[in-house]
Amino acid sequence: MERARKPTALATTPGLPPQPQVTLTDSNARLTATLPTGESIDILLHGATILSWKDAAGRENFWLSDAAKLDGSGAARGGIPIVFPVFGTSDGHGAEKLPQHGFARNSRWEFLGKSTSEAAKEGVKLDFGLSSQNLSDDVRAQWPYTFGLLYSVTLDRGSLNTTLVVTNDGDVPFEFQTLLHNYFRVDDIEKVTVTGFEDAPYVDKVDQFKTKSQAGPVTFAGETDRVYTPAQGPGHPLVIEEDGKPRFRIVRDNLEDAVIFNPWVDKAQGMGDFEPKDGWKKMLCVEPGSVSKWQTLEKGDAFEAAQTIYLV
Ligand code: BG6
Repeated sequence: MERARKPTALATTPGLPPQPQVTLTDSNARLTATLPTGESIDILLHGATILSWKDAAGRENFWLSDAAKLDGSGAARGGIPIVFPVFGTSDGHGAEKLPQHGFARNSRWEFLGKSTSEAAKEGVKLDFGLSSQNLSDDVRAQWPYTFGLLYSVTLDRGSLNTTLVVTNDGDVPFEFQTLLHNYFRVDDIEKVTVTGFEDAPYVDKVDQFKTKSQAGPVTFAGETDRVYTPAQGPGHPLVIEEDGKPRFRIVRDNLEDAVIFNPWVDKAQGMGDFEPKDGWKKMLCVEPGSVSKWQTLEKGDAFEAAQTIYLV
């Protein structure tokens, strides 16, 4: 019924600013987070592997193989696989039975939820967990320690932070190594240089594990697989440049080492999940880690380490 004097509408509550959207897809196997400004990440719960990181214009920052295993049947080739508790393989330190790069990249993690924080001013923080209880009996038999891993991924407008906290929840100490195996997407590996490694000692895995010293920026002209311990410490940024222009700046926290890896022609041919076969031209791994030594974690102790990747 028309009324001469309708009640005035209540003043609308001022709307919240647009919020980041977090969506679980693929029967809860995958998660996408998108900021109101357009930046996005895509994460596979298998391995808590970040598969994709796009800027606001939709430009992809990570390389992901066309043949990457995304169904939980193996570790994904690309993005950021998490290496824990061993880098490569080892015949000591309690890691004798573990497969290459450990089990974290090949185990299903739990999504623990999203939050906003001081650290993520305009962004979003996503937490993932993996503990001994989540592991299959086979994996527990390979590494019988009681541990917890908390992996926090913070997407902000121009940066991505990944933080790993390792806790020893058992009664006996354990040793571990860890590494964030970033696969960056580049336009042409032969035009890439990486700075921040000047004067760093490194172990050259493609030259009989000889120890060498880096002179000037790192450049690429063949298979590259090196474990660096940058001389200026973790606080000193590592910068990936293309055509002389900085593209990614990586700041490490409590990660002393960084591996640089590109398989080039022959090794890429031999990797079953590496597609296209000439994809080595478009990728570069720069992987902050703690791998040249072993961390020992006593009962009840925690280890925290992180990287922040800035787009520049
Ligand atoms: C790098 C190692 O970190 O990872 C290389 O230094 C290795 O030696 C590469 O080939 C890829 O490892 P995977 O197990 O994923 O094939």
